[in-house]
Amino acid sequence: MGRNLPLITPFKLGKFSLSHRVVLAPMSRDRSFHGVPQEHAILYYSQRTSLGGLLISEATKVTDSAQRYPHSPGIWSEEQVEAWKPIVDAVHEKGGIFFCQLWHVGRQSHYNFRSGDPIPSFSLSQPNSVDVAELSIASRLKTDEIPLAVEDFRLAARNAINAGFDGVEVHAAYGLIDQFLKDHVNYRDDEYGGTLENRCRFAMQVLEAVVDEVGADRVGIRLSPYGHYGGAGDSNPEALATFMAESLNRHSILYCHAIEPRTKRTMEEKGGVMRGLLPMRQAFTGTFIAAGGYDCDDGNKAVEESYADLIAYGKLFLANPDLPRRFELGAPLNMYDRATFYIPDPDIGYTDYPFLDY
Ligand SMILES: Cc1cc2nc3c(=O)[nH]c(=O)nc-3n(C[C@H](O)[C@H](O)[C@H](O)COP(=O)(O)O)c2cc1C
Repeated sequence: MGRNLPLITPFKLGKFSLSHRVVLAPMSRDRSFHGVPQEHAILYYSQRTSLGGLLISEATKVTDSAQRYPHSPGIWSEEQVEAWKPIVDAVHEKGGIFFCQLWHVGRQSHYNFRSGDPIPSFSLSQPNSVDVAELSIASRLKTDEIPLAVEDFRLAARNAINAGFDGVEVHAAYGLIDQFLKDHVNYRDDEYGGTLENRCRFAMQVLEAVVDEVGADRVGIRLSPYGHYGGAGDSNPEALATFMAESLNRHSILYCHAIEPRTKRTMEEKGGVMRGLLPMRQAFTGTFIAAGGYDCDDGNKAVEESYADLIAYGKLFLANPDLPRRFELGAPLNMYDRATFYIPDPDIGYTDYPFLDY
């Protein structure tokens, strides 16, 4: 007999009927050799599927110039679409709902990934200030190149649906879109830089293209207004968060998925409880997913207080393929091993985390 937990209650996500609120967070595992998903991912995702559970795939690149990590998957070629199909099928066979996270890494890309093309990577602002030795010198996307980047997302969304995914999550939490949003890295002086409205323009254009292609009822977005990935921070994350939430409302997308600030200060201010996303949650009228540092108790409280509708779990789900069941039973959790997060092994640290044996 399971416990009665807010996390283990049904939720209607548009046309999808979820049986619980425990979402698999997107997690890159770098086991898709040369950008092509591999057979071992069938077992990995199927292990983490439960009837009526929502899964979000690892970040999946929308085009060849979108990448930084060579063994993260893509979804721009026919080969990649075909390789995703059996993985998506395996999730569906167990009654899961599977969204593909669409990613362009932006200025963290590297020219080595662009076969024969001397232009290194997209960027929005100044040459990289982060990891300079490691990164190519990024070139700013020209205003007239931006529609091409939007188009990459549109085609990738179409491909994801063709591969069988139930929907797509536009990854605006790290990478190219995030770099447009944040004023620490966006120094543009065209209509994509400066004001909040201008900085959010690219994100909204991508979203509109993707919605136009596959329908708003199959589109979510992930944002991290408080994040600093690749040096992309913002001077007023709360204003950014609420502006984006209000802009998203105009498109009636399926969900907004946001990452907690989780700084020590915000935790203390809120009495040790994570509520940093409250203004965004209140501004957004659709389904809200919160992520970042949650355990079972935090997740239950967040759902109970309607702070979030769904909670996405990363590391705990990585290490506990049957996480919703363990929460329900109050069972102990496996500890994750950081050393194996990104190794190429098709089993170790990937599909070998044990299930409960009761
Ligand atoms: C191994 C690993 C890979 C990750 N890859 C991605 C990714 O591809 N896309 C993304 O949006 N977030 C990624 N994240 C962030 C997670 O989705 C999540 O937001 C983060 O782990 C915090 O949640 P947690 O405390 O429940 O782990 C990754 C995290 C981990 C641990």
